[in-house]
Amino acid sequence: MRFEKEIKHAKDHFEALIREQLDRVKRLKDEGDWIDYSKLKPIIIGIIGGDGIGPEISKHAKSVLKFILKDEINDGKIKLREIKGLTIENRAKVMKAIPDNILKEIKSCHVLLKGPTTTPRKGDKWPNIESANVAMRRELDLFANIRPVKLPGKDIDWIFFRENTEGAYILGSNGIEITDDLAIDFKVITTQGAERIIKLAFEYAKKNNIKKVTIVTKANVVKLTDGKFLSMAEKISKKYPDIEWDDWYIDIMTAKLIDPSRQSQFRVIVAPNLYGDIITDEAAQMQGGVGTAGSANVGKRYAMFEAIHGSAPRMVKEERAKYADPSSLLRAVVMMLDHIGYNEKAKRLEKALDICGLYEKKIILTGRDTGKTGEEFANYVMETLKNPELNKKWDKYQDK
Ligand code: IPM
Ligand code: MG
Repeated sequence: MRFEKEIKHAKDHFEALIREQLDRVKRLKDEGDWIDYSKLKPIIIGIIGGDGIGPEISKHAKSVLKFILKDEINDGKIKLREIKGLTIENRAKVMKAIPDNILKEIKSCHVLLKGPTTTPRKGDKWPNIESANVAMRRELDLFANIRPVKLPGKDIDWIFFRENTEGAYILGSNGIEITDDLAIDFKVITTQGAERIIKLAFEYAKKNNIKKVTIVTKANVVKLTDGKFLSMAEKISKKYPDIEWDDWYIDIMTAKLIDPSRQSQFRVIVAPNLYGDIITDEAAQMQGGVGTAGSANVGKRYAMFEAIHGSAPRMVKEERAKYADPSSLLRAVVMMLDHIGYNEKAKRLEKALDICGLYEKKIILTGRDTGKTGEEFANYVMETLKNPELNKKWDKYQDK
């Protein structure tokens, strides 16, 4: 028979994947409770520079963070820990998405602020190792990718809950190349995985008095996995009778997000991994580009906050790293402060970023020497934070 060897190999590989996933389901069933940051002293914040423009923009994010948390750092309530070396060079050297020693350091922290890391793909000069983001989300079980997008002028106030550990990503680097002509990838959705992200989204809506949750799938075509996601939504929604919910297929959803007669009706949006990846870029672009949006990756034990853009190696090659915009990472700092319970400080930083990046715009970045540097922008943000009239100033812009 033809291809006997290949088929045997594929079967063995598939069997191993199934066993691994069944074990994972078991672990998900025994999952513990959410970490309580108010009981930790110190809360350890790891700062991962990453590569490309990552080290540059995270340097600025760190300055701002140190500025905002000065007292807490002095009191020993917060500890900043810099984690170096999560670069594509080091990862390629050991052929791992995250080298072991770095993963250990990462796991010694409670929350992480992460600069972008290069994700190689087939045909690059780098070996085709797994994305450090994807690996970190899986290793730390950061199942919720939370991405807010706001366009006040258009009455757009969205918050996306992207499932972050399953879907088309979970076995992204574990597909099977059966022959030169046949490649197979997998998509996985579990009851527990769908349940926890959908529940988190409904809980968020409830807590924030939001009356609408939207589920995005392609359950008419991807019947089993997306079908499971959708039926979990149906089940969970029953526990939230005060919240209206609806569901859209990903294709029409991408259209409706830019439909002026529809877009402001969406509020909390939940989607499996890949669809969430796609629509959050679309949404961020509407807000002013992927450089303007922050992203929280949250699990019950760890949380990681990052920019949603990539490492821009071209900017480094052309010696433009210092002109890179740190806004997206600073937006991630806002989400981090909120997450660990410093809600007032988070709000203040958010307002300062709005003033500096959206309203007053005294320092303009262009990504090259025609504009200002990331450091100048960070200093501008800190100056703005010092202003005792910050709230008043921000309010004034809301009336315009
Ligand atoms: C994101 C990014 C990542 C993803 C890449 C870098 C693997 O696009 O955070 O949205 O696809 O999740
Ligand atoms: Mg993306």
